[in-house]
Amino acid sequence: MKKVLVIYYTQTGQLTSAVKATLQPLEEDPEIEIYYELIVPKVKYPYPWKYVEFFDIFPETVHGIPCQLEAFSFDPDHHYDLIILAYQPWFLSICIPINSFLQSHAAKKVLANKPVITVIACRNMWLMAQEKMKRSLIERNAKLVGNIAFVDKSANLISLITVLAFILGGVKDRFLGIFPKYGVKESDLDKAPSYGKIISKHFKSNSYSSLQQSLNEEHAATIKPNLMIMEGRGKILFPIYANYISKKGIAGSKERRTRVIIFGIFLPTAILILSPIITLFSRLAPLILSKKMKKEMDYFSQNTLR
Ligand SMILES: Cc1cc2nc3c(=O)[nH]c(=O)nc-3n(C[C@H](O)[C@H](O)[C@H](O)COP(=O)(O)O)c2cc1C
Repeated sequence: MKKVLVIYYTQTGQLTSAVKATLQPLEEDPEIEIYYELIVPKVKYPYPWKYVEFFDIFPETVHGIPCQLEAFSFDPDHHYDLIILAYQPWFLSICIPINSFLQSHAAKKVLANKPVITVIACRNMWLMAQEKMKRSLIERNAKLVGNIAFVDKSANLISLITVLAFILGGVKDRFLGIFPKYGVKESDLDKAPSYGKIISKHFKSNSYSSLQQSLNEEHAATIKPNLMIMEGRGKILFPIYANYISKKGIAGSKERRTRVIIFGIFLPTAILILSPIITLFSRLAPLILSKKMKKEMDYFSQNTLR
């Protein structure tokens, strides 16, 4: 019997649907046993989020500061043949609950020398969070062998509006009746079992060298040039803003509230202004910088860290 440990965190269940759909072929296999561990913060993050609460966790998320977690029910001393780490990016970083798990003693034990596959479900920006994930797994002697990213495929500005309505307003349906529903579409989940079949094949032969390539052929982690460029900007600017806010006070403190509010206005405005410019640039860039763009996209399509 081969054993899989799935570590995941979800607020509204989108990630659970993506993981379950992906692992369906493994679930149906009598030779495979899957253990699911939902990561639960001691103080739960709210849903829907209040405006200030949402932007207030930005510095701690970017700086990778952990929160306290409820006790795990899996045994970290148990041998698992494969670990699936399923997470959401928050502010281009690993979400705090999963980052807190990664920093735990149990993670150190259970991840050491194990193959890991990451499953992401998010709006559309996961590249920089995954870079942090690559580093974190290397530090824990784990081997990242595959990555699948489920995204909202709407245009960037549309999903910016719908994700804010979803997160801050709790709108799970079509916002104002005109915008598309936020999140990963059913049609994308329908494709998920085909990723699971690929995982199962590599898992059974215990050979992962061509796993990501096979997943990429099925478009399991597509990279869009405009979003790649935007994330690159964010990667440079986010730590500066995070320091700017956290210099004023600790999470939730009154002292930093004004700076949090400024950031909460600045970030969506910057995306609104920059998104069309960067999209235009990303259409032209391949003509001028074709080699560099291709090299970058190839880099983010694989699992080593530069
Ligand atoms: C605090 C916070 C920050 C987020 N930042 C990002 C982000 O940087 N990139 C992205 O694509 N999605 C981002 N999202 C959206 C989430 O990745 C995800 O789609 C959403 O939280 C729903 O996931 P769930 O249903 O599994 O809880 C963010 C969500 C939250 C709550």
